[in-house]
Amino acid sequence: MSITQFTPAAAGGTASSHASRKITIHTLAEKKSLRQPITCLTAYDYATARILDESGIDLILVGDSLAMVMQGHETTLPVTVDEMLLYTRGVRRAVRHALLVADMPYGSYHASEAEALANAIRFLKEAGAEAVKIEGGIRRAPLVERMVQAEIPVLGHIGLTPQSVHQMGGYKVQGRTQQAMDALLADALALEQAGAFAIVLEGVPRELAARITAELTIPTIGIGAGPDCDGQVLVLHDLAGMTFAPPAKFVRRYASLGDSLREAVAAYRHDVEARTFPSDEESYHLPTALRENATTGPRPRRHA
Ligand code: KIV
Repeated sequence: MSITQFTPAAAGGTASSHASRKITIHTLAEKKSLRQPITCLTAYDYATARILDESGIDLILVGDSLAMVMQGHETTLPVTVDEMLLYTRGVRRAVRHALLVADMPYGSYHASEAEALANAIRFLKEAGAEAVKIEGGIRRAPLVERMVQAEIPVLGHIGLTPQSVHQMGGYKVQGRTQQAMDALLADALALEQAGAFAIVLEGVPRELAARITAELTIPTIGIGAGPDCDGQVLVLHDLAGMTFAPPAKFVRRYASLGDSLREAVAAYRHDVEARTFPSDEESYHLPTALRENATTGPRPRRHA
């Protein structure tokens, strides 16, 4: 058992300062026009999503990066729609303030428009997502348009798109030649025209991200794209120090939760092995009148 529900006491904490202002796709547009930076992080479970939401993060993304950081896969490719829905539902129960976006996994929008639409609708209907994210530029524009017509807000994602890892030949910074720069700018404009409400720019040179951000009326959200985007996103496990390899250049580690957890687990293990956990104060007790019976009372007969 663990107490996880919203209580008046919890609502009186840091949550209350943000709870009144629900973030929508329109809030994000407004933030761009007011030049207010948009904050975005990934979350994959109830507890962390609730901490992010109560901390006032604008956009919470159930990213398919969960295939790597939650499931231990080497790429994002294996995660399925059903798995993404499961994680999104947990996050949904925690989020009251942020815009909740679910990533559509590889294969869920590639085979046909009908299948893509049906899968996207599942994220809104069955998991409570408020928008979906799909990777790709110009070639996705017709699909984005169709989704928006079906009342599904879409977050685009261009540059280093992890679902294209094999086509890119690895995780490489994109847009470093004139031709690639032109192509990425055209991708961004096509997504905007198709109706995407914002675009993630991943792994692109700062100068190109700044140019795309200036050209678009919709917000850009950068990851490894420099400080000139309208917002920033990081994978929570990178920010929190819960990964097992040296972080990428663009990651800033704000905590070392992995180290803290190792220390906590080592201390717990020590206490259990030394029989110092649980203590008498951490134990339940019989009423005083019955205590003696527990140790000296008659033994019940065993049934054969
Ligand atoms: O899957 C993910 O977490 C993402 C973000 C890094 C943008 O796509």
